Amino acid sequence: MYNFVCPLIVYGDNSLDYIAQIKGNKAFIVTDKNIVKLGLIKHVTDQLDAKKIKWEIFDEVEAEPSTDTIRKGGVAVGKYQPDWVIGVGGGSCMDAAKAVILLLARPELKPEELSINFDFNFREKARLMAIPTTSGTGSEASWAIVLTDTKDNYKIGLGTPEDMPDVAILDPVMVMGMPPQVTADTGMDVICQAIEAYISSWGTSLTAGPALIATRLALEYLPRAYKDGNDVDARREMMNAAMMGGLSGSNSMFGLGHGTGHALGAIFHIPHGRTVGLFLPYTLEYIINDSEEATTKIAEIARYCGLIAESDKECAKALIAKIRALAKEIKQPLSVKDCGIDKAKYEKEMPGLISRALNEIMTMTAPRVPGTEDLDKLFRYAYEGKSIDF
Ligand SMILES: [Fe+2]
Repeated sequence: MYNFVCPLIVYGDNSLDYIAQIKGNKAFIVTDKNIVKLGLIKHVTDQLDAKKIKWEIFDEVEAEPSTDTIRKGGVAVGKYQPDWVIGVGGGSCMDAAKAVILLLARPELKPEELSINFDFNFREKARLMAIPTTSGTGSEASWAIVLTDTKDNYKIGLGTPEDMPDVAILDPVMVMGMPPQVTADTGMDVICQAIEAYISSWGTSLTAGPALIATRLALEYLPRAYKDGNDVDARREMMNAAMMGGLSGSNSMFGLGHGTGHALGAIFHIPHGRTVGLFLPYTLEYIINDSEEATTKIAEIARYCGLIAESDKECAKALIAKIRALAKEIKQPLSVKDCGIDKAKYEKEMPGLISRALNEIMTMTAPRVPGTEDLDKLFRYAYEGKSIDF
């Protein structure tokens, strides 16, 4: 038996107008200071004001939110007792909103306990809305919560299908001002998530559809959104692609690019999308060197994206080459060295990189699961920018 968990998805121009249709009295908005400063939050609060819904803002979310921040947010939401929690921002803000609404229902729990091991039933108190301001994690259509345990520099994967948002609003007005660097970083996450969800050993025919379409949209529209932030068609399609990647991955799982990218990001503090996008071509090479079944799946994606070659392996390689070319076009690093990481420092952190990658569930759900030795080699090849030949 499988479940496919999905929010109500409101998308396209003026979709924030949907807020006029919600019922409620008090909204607790979870966001960051930059979203407030940019005035983006006003698009949401104006709608709430028009509907005479009171609101309070918790704007302390940082990139890769810490368990400390979530604890604070949990206390604030407990005091306010809203009937809506609205996450506005990138994946960090939306993940924080999910964690906060779980704490509203179970304030006695620690942030690191917000998992499938508990029942929450938070809808007896409040409902959850997610409004993305980036096109990346697709957190608006995912129940995953990624927090950082600041003590050990560990990223913790949390969440339960219960915290899939009730409503996700994809209004292009919220992403129009995104700077090119953020567009590139988050866009690489879309591609990585979509491809990894498609080839995940937990994937199904229901998760395959959105993953396939998300990949094609992102390969086509990411360069456009990067070059011209005001290209509204590109922004709209990247929003849709991000949501579909998150939706697909949340109902299957991501893979080795995430397992290795998470490890690098946690230790060297590099944005999520940049690291997983960097590792994606290497990990796909690693997979096609061993798994015929996965190679066929990667070839299916390639053909759907218009990359035709004689054999499955050649098709898969064409997709990998396309990802590298796109990354280059949008000025993303092609190797760990390109990230400006000192070799000696990297060497020193190798045991930590390997153990983190080994402990990631996303490493386990990849079609080819590496052990310590292969991870050691993979991290070294990725540092130098060498194609994987093992
Ligand atoms: Fe991701």
